[in-house]
Amino acid sequence: MTNFLFRLRRFAGFYRAALTRYQLHSPFVFEWAVSVLDDRRWYYPFRDIEALRAKMKASPTVIELEDFGARGPGRRKARLARIVDRSAVSPAMGRMLFRTVNWLRPTTILELGASSGISTMYLASAAAQSVRVASLEGSLALTQVAEVNLTVLRLGNVQLYGGPFDQVLEPALQALGAPLDLVFFDGDHRGDATLRYFEKCLARAHDRSVFVFDDLYWSADMAEAWARIKQHPKVTLTLDTFHLGFVFFNPDFKEKQHLQVVPARWKPWKVF
Ligand SMILES: C[S@@+](CC[C@H](N)C(=O)[O-])C[C@H]1O[C@@H](n2cnc3c(N)ncnc32)[C@H](O)[C@@H]1O
Repeated sequence: MTNFLFRLRRFAGFYRAALTRYQLHSPFVFEWAVSVLDDRRWYYPFRDIEALRAKMKASPTVIELEDFGARGPGRRKARLARIVDRSAVSPAMGRMLFRTVNWLRPTTILELGASSGISTMYLASAAAQSVRVASLEGSLALTQVAEVNLTVLRLGNVQLYGGPFDQVLEPALQALGAPLDLVFFDGDHRGDATLRYFEKCLARAHDRSVFVFDDLYWSADMAEAWARIKQHPKVTLTLDTFHLGFVFFNPDFKEKQHLQVVPARWKPWKVF
């Protein structure tokens, strides 16, 4: 089965099972749903980030790219417009990342997979004064594009690390110093690599850390990694929004829960 068909089938099952905020019992999860999943307020950075996305999508620039993860290893030439189109988070997902920062109020954020910096800008602009972001990207050409974008938006709170995750993750963790409040995994889309980076970051996590994984059902391999993450003994709650998966470690959540959730407007008849 192709990855596309796999995702389609998984989405059908996901949608059938998914709850809306009106069916959530935990006050913590309800508050997360109101603040992160369902909040539709508009913030100025959204306009600025999407203007940069549009500019890159209209750009004729061709860059020399190192391939990592599920595509690599290798080198190829690619149009920046195509890379942005194919790999950047969608505006809706970007806004959800922004709202996650707004809700969690982290002081340290780690991102694996900056690409041209779209998700990095959403993460960094939600609390530009108080949060420090370390973002890792293997392709040096893309790191430069992300650097320019961050400069245009005057986001001086991001440190970009160019190089393979296996080489730059440790220095980035050292430089961040403090424990990780929020981690966004959007790099290597291979199951074994995802689990390896999860374990590495877990060593720097605390009870209130939140890990967010992108592309949970990108392939059977990634879906298997997501299932393994859910089973990890330190994980006490997961919230699956199909594209993004949120992982919590708070030991106060006595009963381990794995919930699939959609915005209330996706199931308007589910109000009880
Ligand atoms: C899906 S894209 C990230 C998109 C980005 N978060 C955004 O929203 O614009 C994944 C990125 O991770 C990088 N990557 C994947 N595996 C990597 C690895 N093992 N080391 C370094 N970079 C890697 C790729 O070069 C690619 O640019």
